[in-house]
Amino acid sequence: MTQDPTIPLRAALAQAPAQQFIDGDFRTPCGDGLIDILDPATGALLSQASAGEAADIDAAVKAARQAFDDGRWSGLPPARRQDMLLKLADLVAADADALALTESLDNGMPLMMAKMGGVMGAVGMLRYFAGWATKLGGETITPSWPGEWLGYTRREAVGVVGAITPWNFPLVMAVGKLAAALAAGCTVVLKPAEQAPLSAMRLARLVAEAGFPAGVVNIVTGYGHQAGAALVAHPGVDKISFTGSTLVGQQILRESAATMKRVTLELGGKSPTFIFGDADLERAIPAAAMGIFGNAGQVCAAGSRLFVHTSVFDRVAEGLTARAQSLRVGPGTDPATEMGPLISARQRDRVASYIEAGREAGVSLLAGGNTKGDAGYFIEPTILLEPGADLSVSREEIFGPVLCLMRFGDDDLDTIAARGNDSQYGLSSAIWTQDITRAHKLANRLRAGTVRINGSGPPDPALPLGGFKASGFGRENGRAGLEIYTELKTVTVALT
Ligand code: NAI
Ligand code: MG
Repeated sequence: MTQDPTIPLRAALAQAPAQQFIDGDFRTPCGDGLIDILDPATGALLSQASAGEAADIDAAVKAARQAFDDGRWSGLPPARRQDMLLKLADLVAADADALALTESLDNGMPLMMAKMGGVMGAVGMLRYFAGWATKLGGETITPSWPGEWLGYTRREAVGVVGAITPWNFPLVMAVGKLAAALAAGCTVVLKPAEQAPLSAMRLARLVAEAGFPAGVVNIVTGYGHQAGAALVAHPGVDKISFTGSTLVGQQILRESAATMKRVTLELGGKSPTFIFGDADLERAIPAAAMGIFGNAGQVCAAGSRLFVHTSVFDRVAEGLTARAQSLRVGPGTDPATEMGPLISARQRDRVASYIEAGREAGVSLLAGGNTKGDAGYFIEPTILLEPGADLSVSREEIFGPVLCLMRFGDDDLDTIAARGNDSQYGLSSAIWTQDITRAHKLANRLRAGTVRINGSGPPDPALPLGGFKASGFGRENGRAGLEIYTELKTVTVALT
């Protein structure tokens, strides 16, 4: 009989010392504060991480500053930076099983998602951005001045990047920011989320093994209001790249003004999906279900508002209800699990209180609505039937497996789009119809950073991702996602 693979990993995590990765070394933290890292499937203690303080952040920023200013990274030939990123990609790929198991234990997500979306997603990010290291460049521009001139632009690394990441996809979020910043020639201080820092600390070992110059990558665990806030306030940091809540994003924007940091924010969403009467329901129904129940709804681009044409409403509602009721909910490390727990008791209670608020407002439920099991932070896949557009469940990001299901009739596209756009957010959206004119006209009318027509795959490193309105600004991934880590310099030369 094969042994439960989580047993040796749990033992190793329980004994792992709480360290910070600074200037190429694993260091004893400045303070002795510890963060309990819990298994969201049981609530049991998995490990402890250092509650990094301003002094740890200061040491990390100084190391990153030194490494940036002396050109040990930005001054390397671009092909060398590419090779280092490819080396790290290979090391991450070789460690895929253990990394995925770590991520699944720490975050609660199904093991397959941790492996494909998490670890292999991270490998894809590293390989994609490795290629950009040698392709970053500017333009040649001729000024209209009298005489003969040469003008050109350069893309230069912005400097020291503070990367602050959330717990919903811990590894791929951290690696995505690292890969783009490093390709551009920046050095980085990464502050992973306090709820799920274990994959980032495992990544630190791979960074050390890959042989990056000291100080190029630093990883400091800690709470947001301590380590995170210290990173945002530090004058040695040139740019903050943040993914997380809108509230903290706004705070970071305010705090960054004092030191004029560049800021990229990838924040929340309340993303609409539209299923028209002519849609391929065989594909649209499971996609809509995964769009909200995948990773227990803890996805920035989750399709949390579903608008269905009245002619197919009953079929879609039945299909979704059947899916919600049959989804296997359990620990992420159980291979049979399709939906894991929420990240924490706090997040579970937060989601439950939204459902409760909906119930109190008289909203009826097609499925779910309850917490599940005695241990762990489980919530049933939940469908709310036509909640009023002004209710908190319809307006706020719940970040749990809770779908708002609405219907629409034969309205014009402006009216349909307006319902989708009736949100402070504008991160993503989805359209299901066979009518290409309708699909593209609606795509033009939606105020969202992404529109998916008739399906989509996992996040692709080549596709820009980011939000309109309160969903943030700046774009990650693609060329745009590289350029956010650069400054544009104009050079002119008199040739006369
Ligand atoms: P959060 O925004 O507090 O945490 C995200 C990251 O920011 C963590 O690393 C945290 O330590 C850090 N942080 C917190 N306060 C900070 C501060 N003052 N200065 C610098 N860094 C700080 O998100 P939280 O509290 O974990 O989740 C609350 C809600 O936020 C969720 O229910 C969800 O609605 C939303 N959220 C959205 C995410 C997305 O992917 N867009 C990811 C995580 C949360
Ligand atoms: Mg918070």
